[in-house]
Amino acid sequence: MTRYSRISGTGSYLPPRRLTNAELAAELATKGVETSDEWIVERTGIRARHFAAPDVCSSDLALEAAKNALDAAGLQASDIDLIIVATSTPDMVFPSVACILQNKLGIAGCPAFDVQAVCSGFIYALTLADAMIKTGSATKALVIGSEVFSRILDFSDRTTCVLFGDGAGAVVLEASDTPGILASDLHADGKHVGILCVPGHVSGGQVLGDPLLKMDGQAVFKLAVGMLESTARAALAKANLTDADVDWMIPHQANIRIMQSTAKKLKMPLEKLIVTVDQHGNTSAASIPLALDVSVRSGKVKKGDTLMLEGVGGGFTWGAVLLKY
Ligand code: UT7
Repeated sequence: MTRYSRISGTGSYLPPRRLTNAELAAELATKGVETSDEWIVERTGIRARHFAAPDVCSSDLALEAAKNALDAAGLQASDIDLIIVATSTPDMVFPSVACILQNKLGIAGCPAFDVQAVCSGFIYALTLADAMIKTGSATKALVIGSEVFSRILDFSDRTTCVLFGDGAGAVVLEASDTPGILASDLHADGKHVGILCVPGHVSGGQVLGDPLLKMDGQAVFKLAVGMLESTARAALAKANLTDADVDWMIPHQANIRIMQSTAKKLKMPLEKLIVTVDQHGNTSAASIPLALDVSVRSGKVKKGDTLMLEGVGGGFTWGAVLLKY
C-alpha cells in the first residue's frame, strides 16, 4: 500500500502584545520616524502585528502552537517522532529551536532540527517531513514555523520596520493511507542574497556586520510575483491538477498586493485567497501555518479541500506545496 502524509491537526500562537498601525506610527514618531496607517494599509494591506515580549523566544511561541496542533490532532507530545522548525530568528546560534522545543515538550529521542529558508522555510520543512514520512523515517511529525522578527528589525528604517510581526504556526503531519500532500516544488537562487538579508554574524565574541534586516522592497516585490506564479504552476503540473482544482490559496503573507497579483496571474478568484497579513503582518516562516490554522479554525478550510501553500523569501528561496487537507 502506498504511504502518504496528511495534516491531522493545526495550531498557532500570537504573542499578546498587538500593535495597530496607528500605535506603531505613534511609537516611531517618538524616535523621529514618520509613517502612517494610510501608507501602510495602501502599500501592504497590513493593519496590525504582534510583538513578543523581550524574554520570549521562538521556541516559546513554537511550544504554544505545537500544543494547539497536538490537541487538534488528538495526540500527545510523546507520539511525535520528528520535529522540524522553520525559523530565521532562533533562540541562540545553536542548538536548534527544534531541540529546545523538544525539551520544552518533555520528550526526547526523536530527530529534531531547524530549516533556514527564511519566508519559504515552512514550505521547505513540510516538504522534508513529507519525504521522511513517505520513506518510513517518521510517522507523526511536528512541522512548525516560528519567528520573532521584531528582534531583527531596524526601527529607524520605516521601509522595513512596519512590515513584520512575531508568531508561530504548526501542523502535525501523519503517515496516511490516503493522499494528503500531493506535490511540492522547491527552489533557491543565491545570487539574490543582497536584496533581503540580515548581514551580521557572530565572530570572536562579537557581532560583526549589521544584525538588522535589510531589504530592497521593490526588487523583492518584482521577483516574488513571478516566482510564486511559476512554483504554483509547477506544483499543479506535478499533481496533474489545474488552478480550478484548488479550493484555497494560502501564500506567504508579506503584502496583499503581491498575493493578489499572483492570484490574478494564476487566474485564481480573489475569494480563494486566504489573507491574514492584515492582522499579523509578515511573520516570515510562521505566516503560512498561521494563516492555515486561522482558516481551519474559522471553518473556511474543510477536510478534503485542496490547498495551495506557497512561499518566497530571502536567499532567494521559493516553493509550493499542494495538498488535500
Ligand atoms: O517576506 C518576503 C519579503 N518581503 C516582501 O515581500 C516585501 C516586498 N516589497 C514590498 O512589499 C513593497 O516594495 C514595500 C511595501 C516594501 C514598499 O512599497 P512600495 O510601493 O514599493 O514603496 P516604495 O519603496 O516605492 O516607496 C514609496 C515611497 C517612498 O517615498 P518617495 O521616495 O516616493 O518620496 C518611500 O520613502 O514611500 C516612502 N515610504 C514610506 N512612507 C511612509 C517607505 N516606507 C514608508 C513608510 N511610511 N513606512
